[in-house]
Amino acid sequence: MLLRLASFLIVVIVSALLAWLLGDWRWEIAAAVVAAVIWVAVDGWRASRVLEGLRSEPPSFPVRAGFWGDLSERVRRLMRTREQQTQLAETRLQEFLAAIQASPSGVVLLDEQGRIEWCNQTAAQHFGVDAQRDVMQHVGNLVRDPVFAAYLASWNYSREVVLNGPPGTTSGGGAHPLRLSVQVHPYAGNRRLLLSRDITALEQADAMRRDFVANVSHEIRTPLTVLAGFVETMQTLPLSEAERSRYLGLMAQQSQRMQTLVNDLLTLSRLEGSPPPPTGQWISVRSLMAQCEEEGKGLSQALTPQGHQFGFSGGEGVEVAGALPELQSAMSNLLSNAIRYTPGGGRIQVTWRTLPDGRAEYCVQDSGPGIAAEHIPRLTERFYRVDRSRSRETGGTGLGLAIVKHVVQRHGAELRIESTLGTGSSFSIVFPAARVRAAFKTPAVSALPAG
Ligand SMILES: Nc1ncnc2c1ncn2[C@@H]1O[C@H](COP(=O)(O)OP(=O)(O)O)[C@@H](O)[C@H]1O
Ligand SMILES: [Mg+2]
Repeated sequence: MLLRLASFLIVVIVSALLAWLLGDWRWEIAAAVVAAVIWVAVDGWRASRVLEGLRSEPPSFPVRAGFWGDLSERVRRLMRTREQQTQLAETRLQEFLAAIQASPSGVVLLDEQGRIEWCNQTAAQHFGVDAQRDVMQHVGNLVRDPVFAAYLASWNYSREVVLNGPPGTTSGGGAHPLRLSVQVHPYAGNRRLLLSRDITALEQADAMRRDFVANVSHEIRTPLTVLAGFVETMQTLPLSEAERSRYLGLMAQQSQRMQTLVNDLLTLSRLEGSPPPPTGQWISVRSLMAQCEEEGKGLSQALTPQGHQFGFSGGEGVEVAGALPELQSAMSNLLSNAIRYTPGGGRIQVTWRTLPDGRAEYCVQDSGPGIAAEHIPRLTERFYRVDRSRSRETGGTGLGLAIVKHVVQRHGAELRIESTLGTGSSFSIVFPAARVRAAFKTPAVSALPAG
């Protein structure tokens, strides 16, 4: 500012001096006034150029020197710094939004009037809205669920609400209709943050757990009631020795049934909680088949006086990689089902064969009653039985095929069920080629390194 004043005074004094040299004091004053006017005009013109430059889009800075040049330069630098700060803030905002976009929860930002300011893709799917088109729409107009409307209007958001997803939507493209848990969190005065969570799987697991507990309780209660009845009879009635021994036999049967159930439950929980079966432990298929044969023939004789016609084939010189107790249990389970459900005298064929692509198949085929097609997809569900009384009569728990399915999955194998009513059924396990090899020698069980 001082420099500017100095330059103005110099111009005025120099022109006054020049006039003084001409020798008249009036000239002196006139020259000083003219110089001052010229200076102000030039200065004003430079100022207007700077202003014009700032007003243009994008702004330009035509004046470089002097006071106005300096001012222009400072404004330019200030603008550049601001621009960089804005860009940085914009980048930060975009990163922040991308992070919320990646969240597995639905996120919706509502303004004071309850209009959608922003929502992520998950929320758009949860509520059936369009993340772009529906911005600034009132959320109450888009999500019509009365429970949600009442919740939103209540301004009491201490708990979450559970809603159905939009009609026709399923969880993750699965079979179950979408169920949502929604909670609102107010912020910055009357703005609201709405969070939604897909709880379909959680509810499904809850329902399954409840069913499972109910089933187990029911399965245990039945033999327990029978046992308690016999105990009471024996305590209250005078019984002959023959009656006593008959009742004790029946009681033993019931306690055996409970024991089998508990064993099956333990097997299932062990399968769920244990590490995957080894890939480097090779088991002789011949010995697995021999064990099945021994158990199967024993069971057949115990169940029917006439027994069954058995055929066992294949498995010589082959090894399979996996956990011995699991494989034995799965293979025996399929065979024991065939024996239990095929009436005495029926045919049961057990085969091991290597398929052309290197995989191997263990197959149990029976000439029993067969299973109607609608039951087949559900057979591996826990406690699912086609014929409850037949299963119970033969000592079944309803868990056998659930155990088989678990073992099969853990070994990367596949369970195939084919059946025709009145003709018979065939249950087979197809092992992947990586778990099958020709035996080097013929030990019962050999533990060799992977390869
Ligand atoms: N070989 C078979 N022939 C006919 N029905 C079978 C056969 N194997 C299994 N099933 C049916 O599948 C149901 C489920 O089998 P599983 O899980 O082993 O339970 P269970 O303890 O009742 O044998 C059985 O109750 C039976 O109805
Ligand atoms: Mg069974």
